[in-house]
Amino acid sequence: MKTCLSIKVAAFAAAFFILIGINSEAQTKSSDAKMDAFVSGLMSKMTIDEKIGQLNLVVSGPALTGSTVNTGVAEKLKKGEIGGIFGVYGTNFIGKAQDIAMKQSRLHIPLKFGLDVIHGHRTIFPIPLGMSATWDMGLIQRSARVAATEATGEGINWVFSPMVDIARDPRWGRISEGNGEDPWLGSQIAKAMVKGYQNGDMTKSDAVMACVKHFALYGGAEAGREYNTVDMSLIKMYQDYLPPYKAAVDAGAGSFMSSFNTINGVPATANHWLLTDLLRKQWGFKGFVVSDYTAVNELSNHGLGDLQTVSALALKAGLDMDMVGEGFLATLKKSLKEGKVTQAEIDLACRRVLEAKYKLGLFADPYKSINPDVEKKAELTDENRKFAREVAEHSFVLLKNKGQILPLKKSGTIALIGPLADNHSEMLGTWVIAGDPKKSVSVIDGIKNVVGSNANILYARGSNITDDSLLNARAWFFGMRQERDKRPAQEMIDEAVATAQKADVVVAVVGESANMSGESASRSDINIPETQRTLLKALAKTGKPIVMVLFNGRPLTLPWEDEHMDAILDVWAPGTEAGNAIADVLFGNYNPSGKITATFPRSVGQVPIYYAHKNTGRPFDDKGAAKFKSDYIDIANSPLYPFGYGLSYTTFSYGDVKLSKTRLKGDETLTATVMVTNTGKYAGEETVQLYISDPVASISRSVEELKDFKKITLQPGEQKEVSFRITTADLKFYNANLKYDWEPGEFIVRIGTNSSDTHSAALQWKK
Ligand code: NOJ
Repeated sequence: MKTCLSIKVAAFAAAFFILIGINSEAQTKSSDAKMDAFVSGLMSKMTIDEKIGQLNLVVSGPALTGSTVNTGVAEKLKKGEIGGIFGVYGTNFIGKAQDIAMKQSRLHIPLKFGLDVIHGHRTIFPIPLGMSATWDMGLIQRSARVAATEATGEGINWVFSPMVDIARDPRWGRISEGNGEDPWLGSQIAKAMVKGYQNGDMTKSDAVMACVKHFALYGGAEAGREYNTVDMSLIKMYQDYLPPYKAAVDAGAGSFMSSFNTINGVPATANHWLLTDLLRKQWGFKGFVVSDYTAVNELSNHGLGDLQTVSALALKAGLDMDMVGEGFLATLKKSLKEGKVTQAEIDLACRRVLEAKYKLGLFADPYKSINPDVEKKAELTDENRKFAREVAEHSFVLLKNKGQILPLKKSGTIALIGPLADNHSEMLGTWVIAGDPKKSVSVIDGIKNVVGSNANILYARGSNITDDSLLNARAWFFGMRQERDKRPAQEMIDEAVATAQKADVVVAVVGESANMSGESASRSDINIPETQRTLLKALAKTGKPIVMVLFNGRPLTLPWEDEHMDAILDVWAPGTEAGNAIADVLFGNYNPSGKITATFPRSVGQVPIYYAHKNTGRPFDDKGAAKFKSDYIDIANSPLYPFGYGLSYTTFSYGDVKLSKTRLKGDETLTATVMVTNTGKYAGEETVQLYISDPVASISRSVEELKDFKKITLQPGEQKEVSFRITTADLKFYNANLKYDWEPGEFIVRIGTNSSDTHSAALQWKK
């Protein structure tokens, strides 16, 4: 009787969901038809100039990432020569610009307003590389939601985020803006960000359209040098670099930004294969593509021809909107007359831009996010600050903790030393436009907030961030430069040493300034700047225990620090709540749980270094010095800290990996289980990671690939069984014919605490 009832319920549920499925498909079709009819109707009234005008995106305000700036914006708006504006925020300006478009242009087409909202708008979260270290999709999605709510409060309806470029070269400054080296994890984050921004329905007044960037492979720049050439095999591209972009398409991202780089000879911005064949035909992307800042014009520097030629090439490749350079505005009409582009090509790009406005609900309500009352309420609320503190705490990675020196006691005398200890401007990290550094919490203030008068806090600056004149001159962004102390370096060091000598423990707050990473901030040397290392050496000589709090926008080379510091807590650039979050972790209010998502090399000479590398014909086995192996004669092959690595104040032990089946066929599935025990004294969170190796295949495969992870919380002494369901989808890869499939044979399932520390079990899987 029971079985019969449950069958009926299941059948009803299935019918119901099929019905819902049909309905929602039908609804999508009918709303697409409505949009088509609306856009077609509007376009039938548009002149060619007005159509080309929609393809023009101009910059206004301080967010300049190139030497060109648009002029005559108000006049162009009246003539319908602008489709969108970016770089500004605030309902006052945005309201006025929308007014001109709505009241003074012939067809009253609303504008899109874009902004680089990269890791928060007013409330700044950790830089994306730090966010990714949380491995927490819930937190990441919610951070994008908070950013969208604040940004829409100030009139923005389009954000130039998420950046989903896979990066395996820490010399590249923009590794800070992405999610690290792994395509699977990067894909999960791409989806979470798009969902957070777009909120399921972009017509909502608190939803923004995401702009996925930089399409594509920008993180593969040769030598890690900014804007440099990318040359990559198709297999590597499909397997390792493209998945996050594809995941963003699948999550419904409304727009894409083309990247500055060339791809195997053809610049992305004029790459028909990339923008049309792959993105639209293979992946089914339905949104529009904007260029990066003056990237259409820059096609001339790539050697593709004059402005008219390159503008036509970009349009024909599938680029819809031209950012800042106005090549489309200046030349497309002429190219149409001369038969170099077709009316259909211009129409298609115009349609896509108008569709984006329709999807955002701007034709229904051009002022939907322009409401000064909402604006006042949206900014940096206590609730958002509280959340930013939580996110930052989760992003920190404990790289070392000798003798369990951390967490610190909230008592005794603590010497807080370093150029980043009493600082507000560097807390927010790179790519911050609306976040106010003055409202960020410095480390010293955070520590005082958390320990109160229970401990005696001494402070000395110790050094500047760098005394390297070239680095000082070049590491700036949006006009922001490092604050400098004019005292001689030795005087600052002497003061710091004297301060350390009075304390029970030293907390050294050191690392990169915000602008030493990010756009146009590639480095050939990824050490902590020499001045700060000199300070650390002097502090180490005091014999006092040293906890290093590390600010960084990229993996740094830290062998010296790893050897000489007692503890290292990597805090990236933590955002508005920096100091509070750091203090929470230092003093044990929160037990760190972050895991790095980009490998930390021992030396810059090992770069690019990443966990999912291939085996060579002469693999190095780490069993001592061997000749004729794939290695270096002056350094180990292994990284300093591997992908997925991060300690906790507690310890976790992993049992053997148990497989529900070891012989499988076809579409069968199995469950891999491991017992994880908290063997330490603190409650803690662990990110249990699943990797799979495919030792025999038709092409040489990566030694292992991340396939899943689970986050668990364990009390001291508590055990939990963690299970993963494994299907053939986890075995698939791009073969030599670029077919995505799996091949029968042996597979090794690895589960563990990081990519280098796993337990494994083997299985056979037949077709
Ligand atoms: C250049 C950067 O590459 C891109 O990420 C950014 O969105 C644009 N400038 C607009 O500021």
